[in-house]
Amino acid sequence: MTQPPETAFHLYVHWPYCRAKCGYCDFASVVPKFAWDPAKFIAAYRADIAALRARTGARELGSVFFGGGTPSLAEPEVIGAVIDAAMAAWEPRADLEVTLEANPGTIGKKGLRALRDVGINRLSVGAQAFDPVALDKLGRTHTVDETKHVLTWAHDIFTRLSFDLITARPGQSPKVWEEELRGALEFAGEHLSIYQLTVEDGTPLARAVAEGRVTMPDEDTSAEIFEDTRRVMAEFGRPAYEVSNFAKPGAECRHNLSIWRGADYGGVGPAAHGRVTTEDGWFATRHAPDSAQWVKGPPAPRYEPLTIEDRAREHILMALRLTEGVTHQAFAARFATHGLKDPREMMNLEALEEAVDLGLMTSDDAAVRATDAGVMVLNTLTSRLIGQ
Ligand SMILES: C[S@@+](CC[C@H](N)C(=O)[O-])C[C@H]1O[C@@H](n2cnc3c(N)ncnc32)[C@H](O)[C@@H]1O
Ligand code: SF4
Repeated sequence: MTQPPETAFHLYVHWPYCRAKCGYCDFASVVPKFAWDPAKFIAAYRADIAALRARTGARELGSVFFGGGTPSLAEPEVIGAVIDAAMAAWEPRADLEVTLEANPGTIGKKGLRALRDVGINRLSVGAQAFDPVALDKLGRTHTVDETKHVLTWAHDIFTRLSFDLITARPGQSPKVWEEELRGALEFAGEHLSIYQLTVEDGTPLARAVAEGRVTMPDEDTSAEIFEDTRRVMAEFGRPAYEVSNFAKPGAECRHNLSIWRGADYGGVGPAAHGRVTTEDGWFATRHAPDSAQWVKGPPAPRYEPLTIEDRAREHILMALRLTEGVTHQAFAARFATHGLKDPREMMNLEALEEAVDLGLMTSDDAAVRATDAGVMVLNTLTSRLIGQ
């Protein structure tokens, strides 16, 4: 597949609040302990966007993504004000994609309509599990029925709909998972994200596993679940386009796809990070995580300069997550003027050859890609290929 060089800029808006903290989650989110004031959130996001615009200059805006945390807890007026500020700061593409992550149990039909009316045109629902016992064990604050209601309403209100599931959960067999997945697909839109449960350091889940109260599936079971998921999703017309993401062809999340293809993205909100090109070069940006401080007036994020090699290595790491792989065309479009024409110049060629011989990767004139077998061991592969 050929791919046009990505020129647009993308905006990630971090909403750092949740109703309760799920036991497996180490995302930058907190349960707020201060008086809620939408006007303060609006002022803080506007200030953050203005500061970012001063660094990026005029750019075409390809997408806005409200992630969290639980952005469906924000008032639609806050979401609308952020969309307006972004559209005023940069030049929105005619097909601007504006996604919001919503948790079931935090939003009803009226709220979904209000989000559409302020400019959200793609909804991503945190379903996580369609098995009530598993949902409860994950520590979610909603029921399966609430998930089904939100998805049913969302189908009427949004043409672009996705939901998230978590698989490879404690005690889950491949057979039971496949039944759950097939049941969930009755509610599917054009896109799904299906993550394998990861034990993140410092979470209650990590403690429970360390103390033997919870046993995670073994490697073979996880691998079988991973393969089954890809097979079922391909049969269902939503093949994997990334390790954990599945869509009808053409219905990929443009925001995330652009980032995996190496596009610039700015981050606003506490703990948000970004990768931006300015007159002074390439930068990794990182906001401080303190949301209470951020609401009072966003502190300037850190801008850490990136070398060409840093950026090229990162580009390869991200693009190898994609089914299309790292294409020579996209790599050259970004790096040829800086003396790097081919992604293989950044790779350990012996490791690449070995991975190709083992059927874990393919490498030709168009791209370097991980095969289905390679995706299952992607972290090991990439660390051997580019030493990360
Ligand atoms: C930042 S969350 C935002 C969505 C929303 N807050 C929710 O939970 O419904 C994005 C997604 O990451 C996934 N996730 C979070 N922690 C995870 C973990 N430890 N293992 C696997 N998936 C995880 C969940 O599927 C979640 O929907
Ligand atoms: S609702 Fe989402 S972001 Fe919040 S704690 Fe749970 S998984 Fe993490």
